[in-house]
Amino acid sequence: MTAAAPTWDPAQYLRHAGHRARPFTDLLARVPDLPGDRPRIADLGCGPGNVTALLAERWPGARITGYDNSAEMLDKAHVEHEGPTPGGGSLDFSHADVRTWTPGEPYDLIVSNATLQWVPDHVERFGAWVEGLRPGGTFAFQVPGNFDAPSHRLMRDLAPRYGLTDTLRHDDAVLAPRDYLARLADLGCTTDVWETTYVHLLTGEDPVLDWVKGTGLRPVLTALADDPEARDALLAEYREALRAAYPPGAHGTPFPFRRIFAVARKEA
Ligand SMILES: C[S@@+](CC[C@H](N)C(=O)[O-])C[C@H]1O[C@@H](n2cnc3c(N)ncnc32)[C@H](O)[C@@H]1O
Repeated sequence: MTAAAPTWDPAQYLRHAGHRARPFTDLLARVPDLPGDRPRIADLGCGPGNVTALLAERWPGARITGYDNSAEMLDKAHVEHEGPTPGGGSLDFSHADVRTWTPGEPYDLIVSNATLQWVPDHVERFGAWVEGLRPGGTFAFQVPGNFDAPSHRLMRDLAPRYGLTDTLRHDDAVLAPRDYLARLADLGCTTDVWETTYVHLLTGEDPVLDWVKGTGLRPVLTALADDPEARDALLAEYREALRAAYPPGAHGTPFPFRRIFAVARKEA
């Protein structure tokens, strides 16, 4: 069975919202001042909009649009976060496919958090996005770099046994940090690329399974949506394997998670 676009579950995704937002705040901390007084900002793959809203804290007067192609995520974002912001800016959300999205006006910042791994060949879009920045504007993104971690290796090993041969794309999901750096520097940007491995301390029962049910496992859950028996059997096997790979400690379950960051500033 091959991959269809996964369906998203905002409530499941937001169960680990605090841990998931941390890389976004670390990314924003490295974004330099933006050229416009009331910056125009795009958030590509904005999900339920909770991290998009953090942009308004850093740039209170900004006009910010979050783009996503999941109706479920956009509904949540519209209800929870759309409208004028306290600093005189605005926050809105719009349907767009990041594979084809092109800036329709000059942007001060194009940002993307934990999304580009879902977009094949995303580096091929970098040229159009940098071109759509104002001089001195920034393109910044964060992607997971954990496809060799047990959480992902185990799901990759299990999936074919349930007929899911082409459901998980991991090998080519993201580039090595040095390759991102080279691509962005080739576009004439001043580029800052780094990686961090967070050790999230998770609580509750089977917390790693609970985490991946909100993200990496979405393609599997989507593909088996009409076959609950197979889905439950896969989940039972996967749960056992995750328990062995991520045993709980005295303070919770440590979950190491590598992430890759890039901040590219267009020449002023
Ligand atoms: C892991 S979530 C990240 C959400 C948010 N950026 C955050 O940091 O919490 C990935 C998001 O990317 C969106 N996405 C995946 N592929 C996309 C595409 N081709 N076009 C637009 N959005 C996409 C999904 O719908 C989902 O909301």
